Amino acid sequence: MQNTIKWLNYIIIPGFLSTIGTGIWLAFSGKPYAIALFTIHKILGIATAALLLFALQKLHSAPVTPILMLIFIIAAIVLVGTGAAMSILKMPPLILRSIHISATIVMLLSVAHM
Ligand code: HEM
Repeated sequence: MQNTIKWLNYIIIPGFLSTIGTGIWLAFSGKPYAIALFTIHKILGIATAALLLFALQKLHSAPVTPILMLIFIIAAIVLVGTGAAMSILKMPPLILRSIHISATIVMLLSVAHM
């Protein structure tokens, strides 16, 4: 339990904040995305999301409800999908950015309810 809280404080929270920070940096620097920054953002995002889910499962005495788990997983899939599409497309439509940001918020809200 103590260890899980340490993980949350020292790895997952900075990881999540860095994901959002590198994301905003990517958006400001624009296309073509700097490969290193894009890779860091992508890996940090996926890794911290996976760690977060794992830590939350351990933190709770009862398992996370399936509906919240489903919302979290859908948000993660949408983040990867829209992120990949924004990187592949030459002129990505703005809606992809809006969906990417909304999925970030949905993911945070689902975690807040776990
Ligand atoms: C938990 C996972 C993730 C979170 C929380 C997250 C969050 C964000 C945020 C907050 C932004 C800034 C958006 C803006 O200010 O316009 C952003 C941008 C971006 N993200 Fe992510 N992201 C995640 C995963 C990913 C993944 C997996 C990819 C790639 C496969 C990706 C690719 C991008 C790209 C390309 C941008 C720049 C978009 C633009 O030019 O507006 N993200 N992300």
